[in-house]
Amino acid sequence: MNTAAITAVGHYAPEKVVPNSYFESYLDTTEEWIMSRTGIRERRFLENGATSDLAVEAARKALAMRGISPEEVECIIIATVTPDMFFPSTAALVQHKLGAKNAWGFDLSGACSGFLYALATGVQFIQAGTYTKVLVIGADKMTSIVDMEDRNTCILFGDGGAAVLLEPNEEEGYGIIDWVNYMDGSGMEALHMKAGGSLRPSTLETVQNKMHYITQDGKAVFKVAVVGMADVSVEIMKRNNLKSEDIAWLVPHQANMRIIQSTADRMGLDMDHVMVNIDRYGNTTAATIPSCLAEYHADGRLKRGDNIVLASFGAGYTWGASLIKWSI
Ligand code: UT7
Repeated sequence: MNTAAITAVGHYAPEKVVPNSYFESYLDTTEEWIMSRTGIRERRFLENGATSDLAVEAARKALAMRGISPEEVECIIIATVTPDMFFPSTAALVQHKLGAKNAWGFDLSGACSGFLYALATGVQFIQAGTYTKVLVIGADKMTSIVDMEDRNTCILFGDGGAAVLLEPNEEEGYGIIDWVNYMDGSGMEALHMKAGGSLRPSTLETVQNKMHYITQDGKAVFKVAVVGMADVSVEIMKRNNLKSEDIAWLVPHQANMRIIQSTADRMGLDMDHVMVNIDRYGNTTAATIPSCLAEYHADGRLKRGDNIVLASFGAGYTWGASLIKWSI
């Protein structure tokens, strides 16, 4: 069986930087509250365009890094909860904008675990020998579904996109070694969008009642996320007989610095083995994990042979972890 490896990475952060002080200017909040409760200092807002634009920019960077043309891509999987529109898929829009005319693809809705779900899906095409070039993208324009008057949520999220290219592994023992994903739909109450879907199609009333924004019981999500993300990270270590000292990097979903720290503690990792960019981007949902990979790779902080644990927890509830032996 072929194994799949990440052979290129790309991250796109929109230009507009929004510091915590912006929210202090019109909401009952403070820069200190946001920083101390979340670890977020600033985030990026996409002023023009949509999720597909974030995805295309990220994909272009990944393809440029690998030195291949868009025509060589065979499949595009986009993890997002903020598709440009219900249909066609964001993957179709990205395929067109990118000029990836030989690719098909689809969107995948896994919220904050979307990238890990998409990665596990993309890996199947490579392992089966069906394809040799699959683009897996996490992209979200969270500002399109955040109520900017709700201090409980608007401070948390940002816009961003990040992409990885999956190809068959050339050397045994490298690439995506293992993954485990979970879901518990009873978590819907704590984190969801009330209207705009088939349950409650958009009406004047749903718009007036702000039902097209994120509804989150932050405290409830925090409680399960802090346990769930740590549990699944420890599980993937145990399944693969890895001790703390064997892990070069934890790449956690960037929702809250306290959840990240607690996961690292449970894994027995110092924070200098944990990828963090929540301070600069906030929670970009499906883009957080690949954005960390791309940034740390660009900085030269990833070494071939590094054991890397990716871990997430989010709406659904959805959660998961993947183990990679870095190969580039
Ligand atoms: O990626 C998707 C998954 N989502 C998550 O993982 C998010 C998980 N949850 C969290 O990260 C945290 O629960 C939050 C950052 C959302 C909130 O932090 P918290 O420490 O759990 O605060 P809290 O919700 O318990 O609120 C504490 C207080 C409340 O006031 P009272 O009721 O104690 O008077 C809130 O109203 O802080 C208040 N508060 C704020 N104060 C200033 C809530 N938001 C703000 C704010 N500024 N922006």
